Order: sequence, then structure tokens, then C-alpha cells
Amino acid sequence: MSDSSSAIQSVLVENRVFPPPEALVKAARISGMAGYEALCAEANKDFEGFWARLARENINWTKPFTQTLDESNAPFYKWFADGELNASANCLDKHMGTPVENKTAIIFEADGGEVTKVTYKELLARVSQFANALKARGVQKGDRVLIYMPMTIEGIVAMQACARIGATHSVVFGGFSAKAVQERIQDAGAVAVITANYQLRGGKELPLKAIVDEAIASGGCECVKTVFVYERTASAWARVAGRDISFAEAVAGQSTECAPVPVEAEHPLFVLYTSGSTGKPKGVQHATGGYMLWAKLTMDWTFDIQPSDVFWCTADIGWVTGHTYITYGPLAAGATEVVFEGVPTYPNAGRFWQMIERHKVSIFYTAPTAIRSLIKAADSDEAVHPGKSDLSSLRILGSVGEPINPEAWMWYYKNVGQERCPIVDTWWQTENGGHLITPLPGATPLVPGSCTLPLPGIDAAIVDETGNDVPNGSGGILVIKRPWPSMIRTIWGDPERFKKSYFPEELKGYYLAGDGAVRDAKTGYFRITGRIDDVLNVSGHRMGTMEIESALVAKSDLVAEAAVVGRPDDLTGEAICAFVVLKRPRPTGDEAKQIAKELRDWVAKEIGPIAKPKDIRFGDNLPKTRSGKIMRRLLRSLAKGESITQDTSTLENPAILDQLAQNN
Ligand code: PRX
Repeated sequence: MSDSSSAIQSVLVENRVFPPPEALVKAARISGMAGYEALCAEANKDFEGFWARLARENINWTKPFTQTLDESNAPFYKWFADGELNASANCLDKHMGTPVENKTAIIFEADGGEVTKVTYKELLARVSQFANALKARGVQKGDRVLIYMPMTIEGIVAMQACARIGATHSVVFGGFSAKAVQERIQDAGAVAVITANYQLRGGKELPLKAIVDEAIASGGCECVKTVFVYERTASAWARVAGRDISFAEAVAGQSTECAPVPVEAEHPLFVLYTSGSTGKPKGVQHATGGYMLWAKLTMDWTFDIQPSDVFWCTADIGWVTGHTYITYGPLAAGATEVVFEGVPTYPNAGRFWQMIERHKVSIFYTAPTAIRSLIKAADSDEAVHPGKSDLSSLRILGSVGEPINPEAWMWYYKNVGQERCPIVDTWWQTENGGHLITPLPGATPLVPGSCTLPLPGIDAAIVDETGNDVPNGSGGILVIKRPWPSMIRTIWGDPERFKKSYFPEELKGYYLAGDGAVRDAKTGYFRITGRIDDVLNVSGHRMGTMEIESALVAKSDLVAEAAVVGRPDDLTGEAICAFVVLKRPRPTGDEAKQIAKELRDWVAKEIGPIAKPKDIRFGDNLPKTRSGKIMRRLLRSLAKGESITQDTSTLENPAILDQLAQNN
């Protein structure tokens, strides 16, 4: 018996195991564990041949590649390097002249509920026209374009148009601050910004263009020559003459045809900034060929996408999930997808379920944090319970972004999936490009809270600090031992940091994910236990503790020192807890509350509201060793409200612990 089939045998004797529905096993692309194992065996037998076959079958190359993997300059791996393709052509042009041409590509539901649909043919025309508008403003292959857009068809058009002309996009989530936009413009050297006058979320109109203006006005953004402004609402916006142009003006008179520019497989399709363990976010650079292969392949493998499916990923295009499973994957697969502008709780917390019914969604992909908040809402208001909507169109559910606790998993399975729909708990990261460890809906027996097994060809393992495998059942460091096509290529402008962050010498050249994990002793199934570095996961959003610390100490009139840690939170997974030493005597009572508010608002301005600390505690000092090192493990215990039972004998100032135990 092979490894994985014996794994499956033993998984089945566990308590809560959910085998895939029979009908799905029969019909799915990867059928049963035998289908999964056959692909794993093929990858094991001929690693490069396996990827070459898939790349030829799934991607339209304008120039075929002859070399699959180039490891000569590891860890700067290259895939399909002498091949050429265009990402947008692989999403749009390839469907022309096929039945997909007139199929609905996007069903857009606005915040207020209005629904707009575009076909593949119409989307191609809009992308081409906007690509021509970019060219008319001098944007060309190799340029970087920053996109700061709401969740709209135009956001996707903007990304696809960049890809079409070989410009590298860098999307910044619409909740980030002017400072964050400024830093990303500078780091990427963006020649243009694509934004909207306002975004609509939960019935509110929130500015975007004004934030771009503030970012550029803060200095160092001379590289930006054009700001394109999509007029999402009728509200006026301030125009900088010569620089700013509305979408309508930009596309006026432009042709709806634009030949896609072939680029080398390694050409950077996008740079997406994410948090690491230093104060400066990392520009994760992805390559066109390998990334597009992954976007297409995982739509087929993980979601078993079929022509009749209506796919809905609830992420924002500002995150990697939105890149791969909104902008590129579903279109590459020729699917119909729902794109949603608003928030899950507006006008009420039944919005997701009502939308599934309205658009007959068959594959629904969301985050544990959304599920947890909707459970809470449904518990207190029967009217927004998923049972109130007709969810019979659903066939597959997905989860992404953070570990899903087994209770939330069971609720999702029972109340949303009605015990019919497999849940694919997909583990991956901005750096991975797409799913790496995930169940397959027509193959893998599911265990709540486990992302189960790696995709074929993905050599995931759990090792100790020296890179040696740990036995199943004991926890360790999650690594990927061999390269894969959609892996991060470098950190934009900082190859040294790329090497140090992801391929540390002590780990034998393996890719270091930054997560802790454990494999089940019997089944070998993976369970992710969370980050092992100074990165937090708050509502599925990645935040660096150092980033928040730097923001706090940047308030230099007030803050002397700050340390940030995470603590578990029922709703958001993790919550941000900041320990702060002020340049004035430690405040208490109302004064402490008022300063805590001031600091929260400050962090929102420096990074964005998602980085606001939930708890802020003031002390005369921080717990430090005699050599001056902050003892973070003590802070973590304090944040959790645990009494300190750990050894504090090396602490210089033990009295400080009592002060810091108090929350504001
Ligand atoms: O800690 C893991 C967690 O999210 C991190 C990656 O965050 P980001 O780059 O923002 O990408 C999120 C969307 C892909 C990982 O290091 N994570 C993501 N998916 C899961 C997860 N943790 C547990 N289970 C998952 N399914």
C-alpha cells in the first residue's frame, strides 16, 4: 500500500472524517485518492517532465519553452524561462472563437445591490481599451503601475490591462493609508497610479483619490506621471492638471483592440507588498509563466471548476487571494465569477447567503474570520442565518487565510454546505502564488481544521531548526523542499533579503514558509499552527509586529518605546496587543483611554485601520533582561491575561509586569 493510501485508511478510523461525495469522486478531474496518487507519482518520477506537461497543456505560449526549471542560480529559480506568453491573453483572448466568448465572465454586485454582468468578449474589449489608454500615457512593458482601487470590474480591468502591455502591477488594498501608498509608490518606482474617486463599502463613501494625492504630495513620488481616476460615484474629486485623468477621458477614442504584448516567462507580472518580520513590507515579485500556470491549474485541481459553475471568491483584489482567485484564475479557467464590492454585514449579515442564492453560486471561497463573524451574527439573529437562503446551488466550499478552527469548520459544513459540500481548506501565502496544501474536493477525506495534503509535485515537510525532518505527530517548521512554478522570484529591489528571509542557510536550501505545523501521526495530514515569526494574522490580514512598533514610535512627541505581540481572539483569530512606554508619566484612567485612542488613530493613519491595536497597555518600562532585551514571551502571556508563572529571575524590572497587566 502506498504511503498516502495507508494514510487514508487510518484517517477513516478517526472520529470526524468526511469522505468526498461519491458523485463528485466519479465526476471530478482528480478522481479519488487514486487520481491524486497517480499525479504525485508522475511528479516523483519525472519532476520537470510533470511540470512541462502541465505548462504545455494549461498555458498558451506565444513562444514555447525548451527548458523547464533552471536551478543554476538557486534560490533564484527560473521556470519555463525561454518561453513567452501574455497573462491577459491567457485569461481573455484564448476564449475568443469558443463558446466561452459570449459567456458571462463577471457578475458584479455593487455595495448597494445593483448587478452588472459582462461577457468575456465585452471584458476583453474593456481591458484592451484601457490598455490602449495606458499606452497613450506612455506606460510600457517593464513599467510599474500602482493600483489602489475598490472591488469593481474596473479594478480587474486595470490589472488585466497592465498585464496586457507587460507593465507590472502593484495593487495596494483600499484600506491602506497614504503613507503606505507613498512607500509602495517609491519602492516600486511606479510611473502611474490607477485609483477611483471613492469606494463604497457598507453604505459609506470612502475616499481613495484624496489618499493618493496625499501620498504623492508627501514627497519622493516624482516617478508618477499619470493618475487615472475611475469615477465610482458622482462625487467631485480634486484634479491635478496635467497629471490626473478620468477613466472616461482616458478611454475616449481608444480602440477596443490591443494586441497582447508577449513577455518572457520570468517577466514580473506583479509585485504585491506583504508584511515580514522587519518594519518594512516586502515587495513579493511573481513571474508571469509559473504564476499563470498555478492560477489555472489550481482552479482545475482544488475547485474542480466546470463550465456550469458560478465561482465566488470573497477576497479583495488588494490581497493575493484576489489576484489569483478573482483576477487571473477564474478567467483563465473560463468561469463565471461573482465580484462583490461590499462587506458581508451590509445591509445585514445574511448578505453572503442571499448572494449565493441570487447568483446561484456553486463554489464559494471565503475566510475563517468572515465565517466566525457570520456565525455570531446568525446566533443572535435568526433572520440572517444561512438556513434562510436557498443554498442548494453550492457544491464546493473553500477556506483561506488563517487556520479554521474545527467548530467554525463544522458550522460552515453543516449550515452552509448542508453536509453535501466538501470544504477545501487551502493553505498558501502571498509568496506561494496559489494553493500548496489543500484537500481536493473529489478525492481527499476531510478532517476539520486540517489542510490535509500537499498538491502533487509540492514537497512540503516539517523540519527542526537544522532542517531535519521531524517525525509525524511532533510539531516543527513548515518548509517546501523543492521549488514550484508559482513561487516568489525575489523581493522587489532586495535580493539579499529574499535569500535571508526565505532560504536561510541552516535550512538546507528549503523554502521557509514562516508557519509552524504538525503532521498527524497516523495520516500524515498537515495542520497549520500559525506563524512562528514576528508576523501576526488578524482577520486573515498579515501584519508585522515590527511594522506596528515602528508606526507607534514614529509618534515621537508621545511614544518612547513600544512592543507589539499577538494574542488569540475568538473572532479575528489573533488580536494586536501593544505595550507602550510614553515620554511622560504613565497615564491611568481616562487619560490612559484618551491616549490609547490617539495612538490607535495614529496607527490607522500610518498603516491603515486594520493595524489598529485592540489592546494598548502603558508601563514605565518594558520587561527587559539585564542586557536590555525585551522579553516578548512574557508580553505574550500578559496579552493573553495569563498569570506569569515563567522564570522572571533574568528580568531587570519585575515590578513592571503588574503595570502591564492592565488594559486600556
Ligand atoms: O499563516 C498562514 C496563514 O496566512 C499566511 C499567509 O498570509 P498571506 O500571505 O497574507 O496570504 C493569505 C492568503 C493566501 C500563512 O503563512 N494561512 C493562509 N491560509 C491558511 C493559513 N493558515 C492556516 N490554514 C490556512 N488554510
